[in-house]
Amino acid sequence: MKEDLLKSIPEFNLIKDSDLREKVLKVWDIALAAGGWKVSDLQRMPFTLLIDPCPCSMIEHIRGVVNVSVNAAEALQSIYKSKVKINEDYLVAGALLHDIGKLVEYKEENGKFIQTNLGRLVRHPISGVGLCYSQGIPEEVMHIIASHSWEGDRSKRTPEAIIVHHADFTNFEQFK
Ligand SMILES: [Fe+2]
Repeated sequence: MKEDLLKSIPEFNLIKDSDLREKVLKVWDIALAAGGWKVSDLQRMPFTLLIDPCPCSMIEHIRGVVNVSVNAAEALQSIYKSKVKINEDYLVAGALLHDIGKLVEYKEENGKFIQTNLGRLVRHPISGVGLCYSQGIPEEVMHIIASHSWEGDRSKRTPEAIIVHHADFTNFEQFK
């Protein structure tokens, strides 16, 4: 599973701390098992159910959000230097995990991806944190997951969470 994940999403390797990288991969593994998915299913899985038909897969979306996040962080740091403090490992881990809850928010029935009962009752920013909670994922990374969507609009987002939030919508709205 880990090899398949790394092949599909090479951006896991952008996490420099090997311990954090392994924990992030472990959460992906747990989420895949919880949703009953194979890595290859993520190539077909739409990244959102709000756009039908959705032209963009979960794999593409996650990679898009990681890459926009990393490039935005680089741009900010090149101009503002130490006035903007970004933990790049937390940023990448948060971008990789921001939609992990969607693996339990969706199910496939008769070839169609639909919402699960859990997804209806507990949206992915919350179920995503649930999947991470006992896996040693840093609180800063769980904050990114929890606050990346509108659930986080009332919270004070960290610099990393601000970037992932906007990177997510930047990717989403291209296809809306
Ligand atoms: Fe997303």
